[in-house]
Amino acid sequence: MTLAELDVLREQSLAELRAAADAAALEPVRIRYLGRNGQIPALMKQLKDVPAADRPEFGRRANAWRAELEAALAGRQTVAAPREDAVPFDPTLPGRWHTLGTMHPISRVIEEVCRIFNRLGFVVADGPDIETRFNNFTALNTPAHHPSLDETDTFWLGADQLLRTQTSPVQIRVMTSQKPPVRIVTPGRCYRRDTTDATHSANFHQIEGLYVDTRPVSLADLKATLACFAREMMGPSVGVRFRPHFFPFTEPSVEVDFSCHVCGGSGCRVCKQSGWIEIAGAGMIDPRVYQLIGYNPEEVYGYAFGMGVERIAMIRYGITDIRHLYENDVRFLGQFA
Ligand code: DAH
Repeated sequence: MTLAELDVLREQSLAELRAAADAAALEPVRIRYLGRNGQIPALMKQLKDVPAADRPEFGRRANAWRAELEAALAGRQTVAAPREDAVPFDPTLPGRWHTLGTMHPISRVIEEVCRIFNRLGFVVADGPDIETRFNNFTALNTPAHHPSLDETDTFWLGADQLLRTQTSPVQIRVMTSQKPPVRIVTPGRCYRRDTTDATHSANFHQIEGLYVDTRPVSLADLKATLACFAREMMGPSVGVRFRPHFFPFTEPSVEVDFSCHVCGGSGCRVCKQSGWIEIAGAGMIDPRVYQLIGYNPEEVYGYAFGMGVERIAMIRYGITDIRHLYENDVRFLGQFA
């Protein structure tokens, strides 16, 4: 090796050092040049092959290079050395304003609903968006000819797989894997082949609740639980009513209305003059569901309910179009600080 080649190598090592972004990137550079089998120790071994006239100068430069590299490395490892291309700090410039993100109204409602039910003894359970026919329909006592199974209503991914149309299949997952008592709430995404408009979206969220026990649980318990939830969510003066309804997986089934938060029940545009707003579906678990998942219907009692998260968010925050919730416009989202 000549003196010129030595200088090139030195330049190269310093350039690599400067290019290293952090301590982790410095280490390979150190090994390559200073390590036991590195370039500099190798040079020292080759010293005898350098022409005798150049030898003292070569040795001097190699030693200086080593010292320079070691010092530079030590400096870089302790302080984040300023990069050569860094803009000098100018204290006269105005500060940079970092805007904080805000929690999405959907997430806020989910968190709040779960917190209320947590206090009533419900734990949060989770299930996948891709479900089986059995969990989403069959075990929920929904016959194969039910219109909700149609291609026009459900996103099928195969003969047996689909994007869940409701969070109710998590009930099935929990009951097939746990013995009663179970007391869960399960928030999550649901999918239906709905055409998007101001109140519909093909992708929306529900929160499901399930309570099954070996001691008697009645419709009165369900109503008291949902009334307690209503007061926590909407304030102490909210009214709750049950209307008879039908769901395949509950018997009896009800739809649950809260008194209108805008007019207080006297009738207005928001509640379409009825004084009530539909919030949830609910009911006592149908014995057929217990049979299908392997509980003995003679030994267990339980109720379930399911509510739409978007609907609650829209009522809560006075949102008039569901699409606002999905467009991620910061002018909209920033209002929920
Ligand atoms: N899964 C129903 C729906 O999407 C809502 C529902 C009704 C859930 C009754 C329940 C229930 O758990 O008991 O319309």
